[in-house]
Amino acid sequence: MDKLEGTSLDITKQNIKKLKELFPNCVNEGKIDFDMLQTVLGEEIETAKEKYQFTWNGKTAAIKLAQTPSSSTLRPCKEKSKNWDTTDNLYIEGDNLEVLKQLQKTYYGKIKMIYIDPPYNTGHDFIYKDDYRNGIKKYIDQTKQSGKSNPETSGRYHTDWLNMIYPRLLLAKNLLSDDGAIFISIDDNEVFNLKTICDEIFGQTNFIGNIVRATGTTTGQDSNGLGKSFDYILCYSKSSDFNVGGVLLSDEDVERYNLEDEKGKFSILQLRRTGNEDRREDRPTMYFPITAPDGTKVYPIGPTGYESRWRVGPETVEQRLRNNELYFKKDSNGEWKVYYKYYLDNRTKRPSNLWTELDGNKKAQIEIKELFDKAVFDTPKPTQLIQKIIEISSDKESIILDFFSGSSTTAHAIMQQNSSDNGKRQFIMVQLPEDLDESLKTCSKSNEQIIKNAIEVCDEIGAEHSLAVVGAERIRRAGEKIKTVWLDNHKSEGLFADEAEEFPVDIGFKVFKLDSTNLRPWDNENIIDDDNLFDTMADVFKPDRSREDILYEIMLKYGIFDMPVTKAEVNGKTMYKVGSRYMLVCLEDILSEADINAICNEQPRVVVFKEAGFANDNDKINAVYNLTKAGVEDVKCI
Ligand SMILES: C[S@@+](CC[C@H](N)C(=O)[O-])C[C@H]1O[C@@H](n2cnc3c(N)ncnc32)[C@H](O)[C@@H]1O
Repeated sequence: MDKLEGTSLDITKQNIKKLKELFPNCVNEGKIDFDMLQTVLGEEIETAKEKYQFTWNGKTAAIKLAQTPSSSTLRPCKEKSKNWDTTDNLYIEGDNLEVLKQLQKTYYGKIKMIYIDPPYNTGHDFIYKDDYRNGIKKYIDQTKQSGKSNPETSGRYHTDWLNMIYPRLLLAKNLLSDDGAIFISIDDNEVFNLKTICDEIFGQTNFIGNIVRATGTTTGQDSNGLGKSFDYILCYSKSSDFNVGGVLLSDEDVERYNLEDEKGKFSILQLRRTGNEDRREDRPTMYFPITAPDGTKVYPIGPTGYESRWRVGPETVEQRLRNNELYFKKDSNGEWKVYYKYYLDNRTKRPSNLWTELDGNKKAQIEIKELFDKAVFDTPKPTQLIQKIIEISSDKESIILDFFSGSSTTAHAIMQQNSSDNGKRQFIMVQLPEDLDESLKTCSKSNEQIIKNAIEVCDEIGAEHSLAVVGAERIRRAGEKIKTVWLDNHKSEGLFADEAEEFPVDIGFKVFKLDSTNLRPWDNENIIDDDNLFDTMADVFKPDRSREDILYEIMLKYGIFDMPVTKAEVNGKTMYKVGSRYMLVCLEDILSEADINAICNEQPRVVVFKEAGFANDNDKINAVYNLTKAGVEDVKCI
């Protein structure tokens, strides 16, 4: 019986696997044959010492950090969750580097859109020191402290920020689906460094654009330089499969559709080619006459009288004529001109990269105040902004991730968008449980009141003083508000055909907390001393951990964290079914042959046992034999 692997995905192994798929002859016994790889790639190898590159102190360690597997886990926290049994949304409290590692096995290639709004590196907004030798221990120690400062005088100003963001982006990229994309909010401090590392991580050809977003305020006008009125959103796709979706037309755009026929409103575009290569000699087959309504033959003639050409050939023109999709109009000289008809229908347009029309940061604060009656977070983004990103980058079934979720604006925007277009998008929010009492000690005078307000919110709900509590509470309140608005609208429009009709949007979320592994043997920090030696042999589980903690750790480490779970009695013993007949988890002791037979009858594909659940090796071997014979594909133990 094989043991279940206790760590997150081994990215190095994964990379070697990909290389092997491409160049099987370059991998021997799991090791790369660099000479062979060089031969395979021929002339395309860069050997010059002085090459185009961007590097800084710690870059190699940052790559290692992303690649070092971690044994941490995500522990379910039902009492902090909403609609646990029915929701597909996740709210994860923890350091996002560790969490991103843990999400790899389940969500590799499954996320359609990632939005992040990382600390901008303004000198006071980022905190966290990663340690690749023991990320989880460092995390547990550090979340007890604060120290939000990266002063420019530290001499490692950009370096620290790059070392923070680089490994996280490497891991984030793996999670994107082939038709997925990442959007990153940033300002002048790091936009150029961020662009450079994103070119490297996602590839220059996957750069979709740099959106300039008006913040609605101008900051820093009292200093010597220019006041700041915008920030940026860098967008990269995973591959060329990503398409930017269209946005709805503005009222001004709609006004241009001022003509109408039996098919509806339309606007027109010249059929004659304009701009470059618009001459007859450029495409001779596209110079031909089209018959106007009065029988006149119309030729494509340029503004100075030269012979021009149509945009399409005779066959397409024939087809458009048959469908009544061409429009004829005389110009001021009484000459016929031919146009395409563009129908309004459900037309959308390509978004530009200049976003000035949306709610600004002040509105974002108002949104928070509408939910909490006071400011509880210092740098929220406006919901409308994230909704626009969702609109142009996702479809209705997408999974969307924000691993710097702050006040959970992204979750709010997803629920809002789902409510307006009947979508089923799911969210995964990740937020560091920053200790608000500690933040209060180190914050600037201007933020003091906001943090005190946030602490009040935590007290009102009887929770610990943590920023993650505030982020989760935002989702709770925003979800209820969206539901109330939906119900009111439905009632006022008399839309309730069926009284039992329910609000269709998932406004629940499952809370998980990052922690060290539940299993002693997987914990590289676990020290076995004489006192607990007997205990350790008797039980592999840490004493303060529940069965459900262990169940979700198994799902995480097996890569099926997104599957539904049901508790079941099998031969009188409590077991867990994961997915529809996918996995059966049995953490019971003293397993009998009858128990194994009952498990076989459940017909799962995978079974996981507690190794100590078998009385002896013989029983274990028999169990594997019987399960395999019954069609179970994989039997694991922990
Ligand atoms: C600029 S704020 C995001 C604001 C968010 N877009 C909103 O609208 O509320 C960045 C957030 O990332 C969180 N954060 C910083 N480092 C983190 C880490 N290592 N893991 C998880 N969250 C982190 C901070 O606590 C902060 O709440």
